[in-house]
Amino acid sequence: MKAIEISEVRHHFGEKEVLKGITLSAEKGEIIGLLGPSGAGKTTLIKIITGQLIPSSGSVRLAGYDMRQPGKEIYREIGMMMDDFGVYERLSCYDNLKLYTDIYRIGAERISEVLKWVGLYEDRKCPAQKLSKGMRGRLLLARAVLHHPKILFLDEPTSGLDPATTRRIHDLIHQMQQDGTTVFLTTHNMTEAEKLCKHIALLHEGSIVEYGEPKEICRRYNHQNRLRVLLSDGTVTQLPNTEEAAEQIREYLLERRIETIHSTEPDLESVFMELTGRSLQER
Ligand SMILES: Nc1ncnc2c1ncn2[C@@H]1O[C@H](COP(=O)(O)OP(=O)(O)O)[C@@H](O)[C@H]1O
Ligand SMILES: [Mg+2]
Repeated sequence: MKAIEISEVRHHFGEKEVLKGITLSAEKGEIIGLLGPSGAGKTTLIKIITGQLIPSSGSVRLAGYDMRQPGKEIYREIGMMMDDFGVYERLSCYDNLKLYTDIYRIGAERISEVLKWVGLYEDRKCPAQKLSKGMRGRLLLARAVLHHPKILFLDEPTSGLDPATTRRIHDLIHQMQQDGTTVFLTTHNMTEAEKLCKHIALLHEGSIVEYGEPKEICRRYNHQNRLRVLLSDGTVTQLPNTEEAAEQIREYLLERRIETIHSTEPDLESVFMELTGRSLQER
C-alpha cells in the first residue's frame, strides 16, 4: 500500500480550473516534493489531500483511507504545517501545544520532548505573538509532529525563513524521514527540493509537467552534454562528454592542469524555465 495516492484530481474555484487532473503517489517513508511558483496550485492540492477541501473530481487515498469520506482515525495518522493554520497568539508555546495534546489525548510529557526537539524549550513560556518568524516556523513544525504522524504535510515549510532556521528545519525533516515518516512538502525553492526529496513533481498552472528524481530530471534535460573544465591558469574550457574528449582530458591530467571538472546538466530552475517559460521564483 502506498502512503499517498492521488488520482485524476481536478479542482475549480468558480469558473477557474486550478488543478487539472493530478495523478501522483508516494511510497511509505519517502520525501516527495511538489515544486512550483506562487499560484501553481500547491496549497490547494495539499488542502485536498488532507481533506480540508473536497475536490471537484478525482480521488485521494492516504494510508489506504479514502479521503472522500475520511473518518476521524486518519487525523491521528497525518500531521500538517501550513502557514494559515491558527496559532493562538496570546498563548505560550507550551499552551499552544497543550491544546493539541488534549485533543489527541496524549500525555503532556510529549510537549517538552517536542519543544526540545525543535529548540523552543527555553522559550516555552513565550506567547506566540512574541516569537520571531523562525521560532514560529519551529512551533508550527512542533505541532505538526506532536502525535507522531505517519504522514507529514509541509506547505512551504521554510518560505521566508533565514538560512540557519531553514537548515535546522531541513535537519528535522530528515530526522522524521529516518524514523519512517512519509513527508509531502511543497516549495518554490529548488535547492530545498533537490536537497530533501527523493522524488519531485513540477507543478505548473495546475498540471504536473515533470516527475522523477531531481538529478535524473536534470539529466533528462541535459541537451548539451558537455564537461566544463577549469584549468590551473584560470581558463575555462568546455568539452563534449564523449570519447572525443578523452585524449584532451588525458593530456590535461598528465600535465596536472585541471583545477575542477564538472558536467553541465541544467538545474531544476532551468528545467522549469524550459518547460514553462516561467521562473520558479515568480510571484
Ligand atoms: N479560496 C479560493 N478562492 C478562489 N481562488 C482561489 C482560492 N484559493 C486559491 N485560489 C486560486 O487558485 C490558484 C492556486 O492557488 P494556490 O493553491 O494557493 O497556489 P500556490 O500554493 O501554488 O501558490 C491561484 O490562482 C489562486 O488565486
Ligand atoms: Mg501556497
